[in-house]
Amino acid sequence: MARRHLRYAGPRMIHVLPPEIARLIAAGEVVSRPLDVVRELVDNALDAGATRVEIEVEGGGLSLVRVRDNGSGIGAGSVELAAVRHATSKLEPVAGAVERVTTLGFRGEALWAAAQAGDLHLITRPADQVGASEVWAQGESVRVGRAAAPAGTTVTVRGLFARLPARLRTQATPAAEVREITALMGRYVLHHPGLHWRLGVDGEARLVHAPTDHRGAVASVYGPLNANRVLPVERPAHAAAGSSVGVRGVISRPELTRARRDRMHFSVNGRPVLAPPELERAVIEGYAELLPAGAAPLCVLDLKVAPGDHNPNVHPAKQVVALADLGGVAARVREAVAAALAQHPLARAAPALIAPPTPAETPRNGSFPALTLVGLYQNLYLLAQGEGDLWVVDAHAAHERALYERLTRELSAAPPVELAEPELLHLTPQQRAALHERAAELRGWGLEIEDFGAGLARLRTLPAALAALKVPRLHEQIVEGALGTGPDPRRDVLAALACAPALKAGMLDHGRGTLVLEALAACEHPWACPHGRPTTLRLSERDLAHAFGRRGVRDVARGRDATPDVAPKDTSSDAGRH
Ligand SMILES: Nc1ncnc2c1ncn2[C@@H]1O[C@H](COP(=O)(O)OP(=O)(O)OP(=O)(O)O)[C@@H](O)[C@H]1O
Ligand SMILES: [Mg+2]
Repeated sequence: MARRHLRYAGPRMIHVLPPEIARLIAAGEVVSRPLDVVRELVDNALDAGATRVEIEVEGGGLSLVRVRDNGSGIGAGSVELAAVRHATSKLEPVAGAVERVTTLGFRGEALWAAAQAGDLHLITRPADQVGASEVWAQGESVRVGRAAAPAGTTVTVRGLFARLPARLRTQATPAAEVREITALMGRYVLHHPGLHWRLGVDGEARLVHAPTDHRGAVASVYGPLNANRVLPVERPAHAAAGSSVGVRGVISRPELTRARRDRMHFSVNGRPVLAPPELERAVIEGYAELLPAGAAPLCVLDLKVAPGDHNPNVHPAKQVVALADLGGVAARVREAVAAALAQHPLARAAPALIAPPTPAETPRNGSFPALTLVGLYQNLYLLAQGEGDLWVVDAHAAHERALYERLTRELSAAPPVELAEPELLHLTPQQRAALHERAAELRGWGLEIEDFGAGLARLRTLPAALAALKVPRLHEQIVEGALGTGPDPRRDVLAALACAPALKAGMLDHGRGTLVLEALAACEHPWACPHGRPTTLRLSERDLAHAFGRRGVRDVARGRDATPDVAPKDTSSDAGRH
């Protein structure tokens, strides 16, 4: 469980930090939007060792944020300090203590900041205390009372920014804030999968998670299809091997890729952080040639570093941490990812992806099997047989992949085509900014767009391979992709253009299906479409046989029953191979 990062040592007294220490950890604005309140209250619940955290949000968090936990609670002896500025139980009042923190909080500012921004109510009881305490805080005024409550803490913040109209005016819409709160809670679930989590929005459950492992958390957040396609990563810190960095979590199998890095999640010592690009790159490098260029995997990686090797005190929202040895951490991440993939059959087949094809009977890509079409399903899927197993190929995705690779090959094959009548385009401010940034890069592959100022631009040349395409809104699609927000404009343009002419449901027949299978097998990266969705699923004959209560062909042939989930690559003697 990721919680092991957090050292919980029972309820401790809250004390006010001396000014010289408080100055060292001055945070900046801790609460500037409802999301900040949610994050701070959840951090407090985790620091309190809770195993159950329930979050309720109303009106986008402006009306109400409530976090209930079953953690340590706050003892009656120091509860009146909870919402006082620079009062904390987590930091010793000595210089240098911040370098040793193992908790998510340490500044003693979050509850105070929440009480400045709204009306804070807290009710809390340590398990061994008779009777609970209640605190009301608003601005600097704090009132304490007694109450009855279960062990743990419930903090409610109401009327956020009601007293700060200027702040209120700059808030996002409730729907937008809820979207981000949901995304943030998803990240907490991914990094702390061993807890009970519940997020309710305006009385309706949005995210519910019961304790599992990282894979289960991926199921809670991204659905079971994604969860079925992740591999565990486990690289504990190993002092003997000279690494004090531990890496643990899951990464997606190579066939599950995305065009964006939006599902790459990292935590450092239990805190979900916005990862430095170096760490994202390290993960991608760990896949080596298993990932198509520009593609990103899904990953959830919990990094554990020695407290002194990171500084969480560099950002008011603590979303960014400074790592003393970022290069070393990145190397460890790369190694952990590569090691996890190396244990996977698809990864073992990987060298074949780049090795020159053997001149034997299979002159093509060595890792994609020879498939024979046996039928069409729903006018969209190809059912095929190969290596003794049943394969289901998404004809559209496969055709798209093949077209995409063809366009990529042909893109620079011929000189660009000059448009007879250069087309005038309207650009948004973002597109214009993108044009300034990438004009040279675009020209490099044959796309010349001139900025005219006043929101206008002129399309002068197109790559020859694209100019000839019969695609609706061709110029518009090219410009949208080239000047879009994606990290790889060339890929975005080609992926969009490959999608339009690719076979749709209803256009499929046996002849076309066979052609698609052949085109896919000839691809350099046949396993995923350019948008990162899989092209091909494999149903192992053995699983099928077992489901029917039979022994599989291979079980019979090899006289064994227990076999790994994924059929081995070495199936040369299999029945059913053609
Ligand atoms: N859910 C909770 N369970 C138990 N104790 C809590 C809880 N929330 C707050 N506390 C206590 O109140 C103190 C103040 O909380 P607050 O969040 O303001 O500061 P912090 O967590 O110490 O530091 P930071 O400002 O970095 O979050 C904490 O140090 C802790 O002792
Ligand atoms: Mg806190």
